[in-house]
Amino acid sequence: IRTIGVMTSGGDAPGMNAAIRAVARACAYYNVKCIGFYRGYQGMIEGDYTVMNARSVRNIISRGGTILKSARSVDFKTPEGRKKAADQLKEIGVEAMVLIGGDGTFRGGQIFSEEYDIPVIGVPGTIDNDIAGTNYTIGYDTALNTVISAIDKIRDTASSHNRLFFVEVMGRDAGFIALNSGVGAGAEEILIPEEDLGLDRLLESLKRSKRSGKSSSIVVVSEGDKTGKNVYELADYVTENLPDYEVRVTVLGHMQRGGSPSCFDRTLASRLCVKAVELLLDGEKNVMVGIINNEITATSFDDGLREGHEINKELLRISDILST
Ligand code: F6P
Repeated sequence: IRTIGVMTSGGDAPGMNAAIRAVARACAYYNVKCIGFYRGYQGMIEGDYTVMNARSVRNIISRGGTILKSARSVDFKTPEGRKKAADQLKEIGVEAMVLIGGDGTFRGGQIFSEEYDIPVIGVPGTIDNDIAGTNYTIGYDTALNTVISAIDKIRDTASSHNRLFFVEVMGRDAGFIALNSGVGAGAEEILIPEEDLGLDRLLESLKRSKRSGKSSSIVVVSEGDKTGKNVYELADYVTENLPDYEVRVTVLGHMQRGGSPSCFDRTLASRLCVKAVELLLDGEKNVMVGIINNEITATSFDDGLREGHEINKELLRISDILST
C-alpha cells in the first residue's frame, strides 16, 4: 500500500485530532502517502481532500473538534454515492482508508468494503461509547470529565437554593455517559435507556431524599431514557407530584462534544491509529480497532457493532447505595 486515506465522520469527539495526527505520522514513519478527506464520506464523494505529511498535523494533539471536519453523509447511503467515492479514491490513488467515527461510520465502511475492493479499518471515535468492539471510544473520557465538571457547578447553585436539578446528558440510545457521570458527580438518581426504573420509583427516591435531610438533588437523565417523557416533562411531572421541590432543568447539549481531549483520549487515539495503519500495511482489512482489557485489538465490523453493548449495571447499585 502506497497511499492511505483518513477521514472523520459522524458526531465529532475530542481526540479526533489526536487520531488524525497519529494516522498522518504513522504513514510518514512507514513512508506511505497520507490523504485527509474533509467532511467524512461527503469529502470522499466530492474529492475534497488535502495531502498530509508529518508537519500538517503539528500542534493539533491538544485541540478539540476535527481539522478534517465531520459530517453525516446522506449521499454515501446510496449505491451511487458510494460508487462516486470509490471512483474518487481510485483517481486520487488512495488504496486503503482509516475511518474515524461511530457506528454509522462503521456501517458505511462495512457496506463500502463489501462493494469495492478497498481495505478499510474503523477507529471508534464518539463520545457515546456505544460500540461493542471496544471498552472505550475516543472522546468518551473527555466528555465524562466535561459533564462532571458541569454537574459540579450545577450542584453549587442547586445547594444554595435548595433546588432539584434534572441534568440531561448525551449518549443517543446508550446510557454510558449518564451512568458514569452520575456516579462520578454523586447524582441522587440516574435515568438511562438500558433500565426503566419507572416514574414511581423516581418519586419515591426523591421523597426519601427529602426525608433524609437532603436539601438539594441532582438527577442525571440520559437523552435516550425510557421514561417516555423528555427532561422538561419529567421536571413538570415531579413538580406536580412533589410540590415541595423547586425544580430546574439543564440540558448540557453539544458542549459535551467540545474541549481539549483528556490524556486518556489522546493516548487511546494514538494507540488505535498507529495500529490501524500497521494493520493495513500487514494486509488486514475490514475490521475495527478497539481497546479490550488494555490490549489493542481488531474485531470484525459485525462483532464490533453487535447490539446490546453492555453498560455496567453494577454502577446503578453503587449509585443507590451512595445516594442514601
Ligand atoms: O453520537 C454523538 C452525539 O453527540 C449523540 O450523543 C447525540 O445524540 C447526537 O450525536 C447529536 O447529534 P447532532 O450533533 O447531529 O445534533
